[in-house]
Amino acid sequence: MSATARKTALNAEDIRALKGQRPIVSLTAYTTPMARLMDAHCDFVLVGDSVGMVLHGLPSTLGVTMDMMVMHGAAVARGLSRAMMVIDMPFGAYEEGPAQAFRNAARLMAETGAAAVKLEGGVEMAETIRFLVKRGIPVMAHIGLTPQSINTLGGYKVQGRDEAAKPLIADARAVADAGAFAVVLEKVPASLADQVTEIVAIPTIGIGASAGCDGQVLVVDDMLGFFTAFKPKFVKRYAELGPAAEEAIADYAAEVRARRFPAPEHTFADLAPKTD
Ligand code: KIV
Repeated sequence: MSATARKTALNAEDIRALKGQRPIVSLTAYTTPMARLMDAHCDFVLVGDSVGMVLHGLPSTLGVTMDMMVMHGAAVARGLSRAMMVIDMPFGAYEEGPAQAFRNAARLMAETGAAAVKLEGGVEMAETIRFLVKRGIPVMAHIGLTPQSINTLGGYKVQGRDEAAKPLIADARAVADAGAFAVVLEKVPASLADQVTEIVAIPTIGIGASAGCDGQVLVVDDMLGFFTAFKPKFVKRYAELGPAAEEAIADYAAEVRARRFPAPEHTFADLAPKTD
């Protein structure tokens, strides 16, 4: 089956229609097995460019390439049948203008089966969002802390405090007016996130924002405790799988060194029993 033939039950219009109905649930995923685990529980799964930091050990998302996104997007799509798949446009793949954005968004959708793209930016990206949406590409916007801009934002700081609230509201209005079907609000004060959620007609998806947003997203490796390099305040650890995995690896290493693994039940006899 080609990537473009793949279709999940939920789409951008379903997500948009959830505003005011019930909270929208989302996590990031980068691999098929993880996507399978979340398919029944998430409304949309985001193939985030956080993959660069989480799985590839990059210091930021700036080094993530189109080829990386295509590879991880195709893997995630193989694990989904229900949840919608949204894929991030990586840094440098859309900022030059609408035509570049369309070319790369079309490639991501054609080669992965994603049902929508996400891109970072507010007012300055409105024209590009409008261009994509008018040409058949559903767009999720991402405003507030936009990690691809850490070099101009001066780091991973809270956005929208004090006099920065007005421009953030303008960003939200601009992306909604341009036709985005949802907008991620990252690391903004809770009261501002609530205000934006009131103002715009599209769902707000919070990450470090407010429980009052229309939905929430987290990086899966953060909430499972796999990514332990640092923990942003907005991350809640629902499990500590990183330490559990390290303990298992240490046990394995000790057993190999002590020649306790493999045990007889893990080895094969000369004569084949029926149970091999
Ligand atoms: O790349 C990502 O994982 C994201 C989420 C944090 C929203 O953009």
